[in-house]
Amino acid sequence: MEEKQHIGQLFDRIASTYDGLNHGLSMNIDRFWRRKTVKEMQPAAHVLDVAIGTADLTIEMLRRGKAEKVTGLDLSDRMMAIGEEKCAKHKMNVTFVHGNAQEMPFENAFFDGVTCAFGCRNFSDLDAGLREMYRVLKPGGQVTILEFSYPTNRFVRNLYDLYFTRILPGVGRIVSRDKTAYTYLNRSVKSFCWGETFVQHLHDAGFGNEHFIPLSLGIATIYTAIK
Ligand SMILES: C[S@@+](CC[C@H](N)C(=O)[O-])C[C@H]1O[C@@H](n2cnc3c(N)ncnc32)[C@H](O)[C@@H]1O
Repeated sequence: MEEKQHIGQLFDRIASTYDGLNHGLSMNIDRFWRRKTVKEMQPAAHVLDVAIGTADLTIEMLRRGKAEKVTGLDLSDRMMAIGEEKCAKHKMNVTFVHGNAQEMPFENAFFDGVTCAFGCRNFSDLDAGLREMYRVLKPGGQVTILEFSYPTNRFVRNLYDLYFTRILPGVGRIVSRDKTAYTYLNRSVKSFCWGETFVQHLHDAGFGNEHFIPLSLGIATIYTAIK
């Protein structure tokens, strides 16, 4: 099966339990991370939220007035259907587009800002995804990325490993009734790059003025950069 089809189907399978598991298992820390990410965004008229999923980041940026209008891109129709329902409830101006972050169906320099929360580590080719973000962004626009990272403190690392290797796959399997999805999520977190290494990928994609802010002792990190 093609990689992108596989990822889309994986998230389709867990879509109905995704929000509840996210907020429950993180004890709502994920909400705080998204709020902080939105604070780091420069205001932009039209934002592309890559891997929009169930639209939590989009809702936060529209609520805080950081974007006037958002287009969301994702491979999972079920994740987007839930996002669409949530945005409709809030009467928010959001367009949902099915597509691959590594081959975006948008013109060059189309968006004033680009965001991506917990999407990048799922790309089969991170550099292709970042190059696409750069391509569709207007010059001077900002990319803002939120992603899991690996804590440097040994004690926090042990807790993190316990959480991602035992608690998340176990609870995820029971609640989502999917045998493999949360094991995959665990593997994708541990094998992904973070910090200076991720910044180097942003730089290689063409971005400048890169910054990163570790959150919650390095469990997650916000990256910003300018085209
Ligand atoms: C962990 S969820 C994050 C969703 C949302 N941004 C959030 O903060 O909750 C990852 C999302 O990325 C999407 N995704 C993964 N790879 C993708 C790709 N190559 N192109 C577009 N979407 C992708 C998945 O379908 C899923 O909805």
